[in-house]
Amino acid sequence: MSGVLRKLGLAALLLAAGCVRTEPPMTTLAPKSDLAAEIYRLFLEVTAWDAFIFLIVVVAFVLAIFVFSTRVGEAAPPSSVASDLGLEVAYTLGPAFIILMISIPTVSAIFRTQPPIAPAGSLHVTVIPHQWWWEFRYPESGIVTANELHIPVGRIIRAELKSADVIHSFWVPQLGGKRDVVPGQVNELTFDARVPGVYLGQCAEFCGLSHANMRFRVFVETPEQFAAWEADQKGAPMPSQQSSNAEVAAGARIFANSPCTACHHVAGVSHGYVGPDLSHFGARTTMAGGIMSNTPQHVAEWIRNPDALKPGAQMPALGLRGPELDELVAYLESLK
Ligand code: CUA
Repeated sequence: MSGVLRKLGLAALLLAAGCVRTEPPMTTLAPKSDLAAEIYRLFLEVTAWDAFIFLIVVVAFVLAIFVFSTRVGEAAPPSSVASDLGLEVAYTLGPAFIILMISIPTVSAIFRTQPPIAPAGSLHVTVIPHQWWWEFRYPESGIVTANELHIPVGRIIRAELKSADVIHSFWVPQLGGKRDVVPGQVNELTFDARVPGVYLGQCAEFCGLSHANMRFRVFVETPEQFAAWEADQKGAPMPSQQSSNAEVAAGARIFANSPCTACHHVAGVSHGYVGPDLSHFGARTTMAGGIMSNTPQHVAEWIRNPDALKPGAQMPALGLRGPELDELVAYLESLK
């Protein structure tokens, strides 16, 4: 018996541990942008209408059970009326009215959040989802990054969504979405974030084996923080084969002569764009589609066997081991 209790206690503990939040919440109920606030308002409106319909149905149901039912020993009532024009008109017009009341604010919100022309002064960001990671390009500054989108608070963001392969969906519950990203088509999303913070995003359209591993983060920063980030990103990555750190310098040589260069861009070193741009990889907090923190241990695990961490990952295992692997990791982490 005590064994069972112990197991139950352990299960309760694990369940409670699952509730401890170590990441920002993925909720649509705490909106932090104009778009998310609009979606939240629509949600409340629709819920109110739903509650109203639910109430009518419950009242009709209770009346049918307790008032209009035949009691034991009673004769069955005569057959019900064949038609009642007033009733039929009421139950056609009633739902049509409710749908109209829901669709007017919904459709106007859709059009308001994707105007054909970007609002003046907006920051342009090209969002390119790939199987299974996110590429973010800033056409005005030339910055390219992956899985971590930085934006300034209060400025209108004009996102152009272009898929690199299949249909994905851009979704940051606290900032807005979901907007599908369809190959061969550019979809837009316009929003402004109102509260600085880190917000979690997730692909919201099934896009293959690692769809669930296709996450990202949005860093909403003060204008000063954003300007500092921009300045860092525009600069050349610091270390090189001439780095004073021997491990980093050795790693730089390994990278420059490895197949990594065919797929990854590092400013001044390689020009691949199949995988994420690594020019400032070390400055990111997460990696591999945002599924893990960017630590030397995780980077080494990833290089050893990407497929084990993200099933279906297009990056092959390169067979690097021992000191060579450590040197390559040191180099990647030094790219700030
Ligand atoms: Cu991309 Cu699901």
